[in-house]
Amino acid sequence: PRILVLHGPNLNLLGTREPDVYGHTTLADIHSAMEARGRAEGVLVESFQSNHEGQLIDRVQASPLEEISFIILNPAAYAHTSVALRDALLAVAIPYVEVHLSNIHARDTFRHHSYFSDCAAGVICGLGPYGYLAALEYALSQLRKP
Ligand code: DQA
Repeated sequence: PRILVLHGPNLNLLGTREPDVYGHTTLADIHSAMEARGRAEGVLVESFQSNHEGQLIDRVQASPLEEISFIILNPAAYAHTSVALRDALLAVAIPYVEVHLSNIHARDTFRHHSYFSDCAAGVICGLGPYGYLAALEYALSQLRKP
């Protein structure tokens, strides 16, 4: 079994980007923690970050062929804008958890709405990098189900 972790625009800058909002943990730190946790459970955790909407959509569309059974998604700013990425997730019908490092409800009003939340298995925001690991535990528990 495989789990895909998808990160949207500007998340490649984690660690140096607005550290008061997003903390000091880098994307590489998050990836290695998640891959290690997956490995311990015999599950391949793949991570992909892109600043380009179309590349994220292509990656989602390729997921069924790659036998991805769960997606953990931080759409970043595309959460608030991308009907196209939402449509891609609905097209492949792979369950996903939406993660945001920051509490989007405690920030600018334009961040309060996400195009992904109503179709997600669940939404985690405001827990920093821990949110990804919490989402991963949920995904692993789902994959263990017969
Ligand atoms: C974010 C929140 C978004 O509003 C923002 O555009 C991001 C990061 C988060 O993880 O807190 O880029 O998704």
